[in-house]
Amino acid sequence: MKLMRPVRGTTDLMPKQKSQMNFVIEKAVVIANRYGFQAMETPIFEFKEVFSRPLGESSDVVAKETYSFQDRGGADLTLRPEGTASVMRALISNGLTQSLPQKFFYSGPMFRYERPQKGRMRQFNQIGCEFIGSFEPLSDAEIIGCAADILSELGVLEKCTLYVNSLGDNESRDNYRASLVSYLLEYKESLSVDSQRRLSSNPLRILDSKAKEDIEIVENAPKLLQFLTTQAKKHFDRVTNLLDLAGIDWQLDKKLVRGLDYYSHTAFEFVTNGLGSQGTVLGGGRYDGLSSMLGGPNIGAVGFAAGVERLALLTEQTEDFKYDIAVITADEYAEKHAFALAKDLRSCGLCVDIPLANQIGKKLKRANLIGCTLSFIIGKTEINSNSLQVKFMENGEQKQINKSEAVSFAKNFFEGRIKGIQ
Ligand code: HAM
Repeated sequence: MKLMRPVRGTTDLMPKQKSQMNFVIEKAVVIANRYGFQAMETPIFEFKEVFSRPLGESSDVVAKETYSFQDRGGADLTLRPEGTASVMRALISNGLTQSLPQKFFYSGPMFRYERPQKGRMRQFNQIGCEFIGSFEPLSDAEIIGCAADILSELGVLEKCTLYVNSLGDNESRDNYRASLVSYLLEYKESLSVDSQRRLSSNPLRILDSKAKEDIEIVENAPKLLQFLTTQAKKHFDRVTNLLDLAGIDWQLDKKLVRGLDYYSHTAFEFVTNGLGSQGTVLGGGRYDGLSSMLGGPNIGAVGFAAGVERLALLTEQTEDFKYDIAVITADEYAEKHAFALAKDLRSCGLCVDIPLANQIGKKLKRANLIGCTLSFIIGKTEINSNSLQVKFMENGEQKQINKSEAVSFAKNFFEGRIKGIQ
């Protein structure tokens, strides 16, 4: 029979990777809580329209990367490619538009049909924060501050550069569009086929093109920042002033447009050069138009998401899983006693293994291999004299204790170690 393999672009999170990812998520949730972001979760699939309109029919994510399918009842569904549209949909569905602001944290798998490479998967995980219900620049600064604190807590902030830009309001973009189109029309024949099509449907999308021929042309295109309305410019200045006051280093990137249609005003990315070509670890921005795109009221909102796998690669947090105690049977007679003792030790919160090899020597070898600090050895002789042998794995010393005192001995030993007494 043919050997089964994982689907391209998916990966098994084996214990080491899983614990690295949990480390990232646990640290992130603690920092997000300090800012008042509370954990919530949306379904992994949604009706297709939840993503198609807000992200943009012509965006790469919607046009080329979604996993969409019809279920058995004929409903058109999409596996979520990102969390923001789902979170806004959930806010509206749960009747929270009258109880603003709401601040959410989420983590979980996302799905995009992209070309897999290091740091780019078809199923990957994101953590994200969404601050929904304010148009104030202070909420943009809070979001960026929270993102920076999470990266700092993970020890990756110094490996990243924060790039910031403004996409302005609708009026700014309308003014800009005309000037951009007249510039691009001069190079129409040299643009990629996709971009030639976008020239009439969604010219701003061309700024985000990955095609080599487009990148060169876009380089000298007029920049959106020069077309900001007074209001939009004021918003951007207030955000960047707040960042400066908080000592958050940032750089202006006039070409930063982000790949999704729902953005306006502030757009930002934390980028590292420690991950090869997939260097964006965290991205976000303001998305004031998203609620109305989903049929909700006009709500100001801003947020970010980060790739958990990318953060895990950068944190290189490699703490091995360790057991505390091995309960080692010297003969078959001891089996049921070992099983009961292991259960009692586990109830005290200790991590216990019962090695299964057929010789004591091999069982002790396993105890060493899995990092046990103590081994409790019991056989018929010990059981008959209500005793057991304790082996201190670090120095090989051994002593006999009363079997009925085994649990309290273990508790005292590990509590003592924590206090540094042993
Ligand atoms: P995004 O830039 O599409 O934004 O994704 C955010 C982060 O997810 C990226 O910076 C990257 O670290 C990670 N990521 C994206 N695609 C992949 C992939 N194929 N494999 C591995 N990691 C990936 C959003 O998703 C927006 N929802 C962010 C946001 C929240 N904006 C406002 N609120």
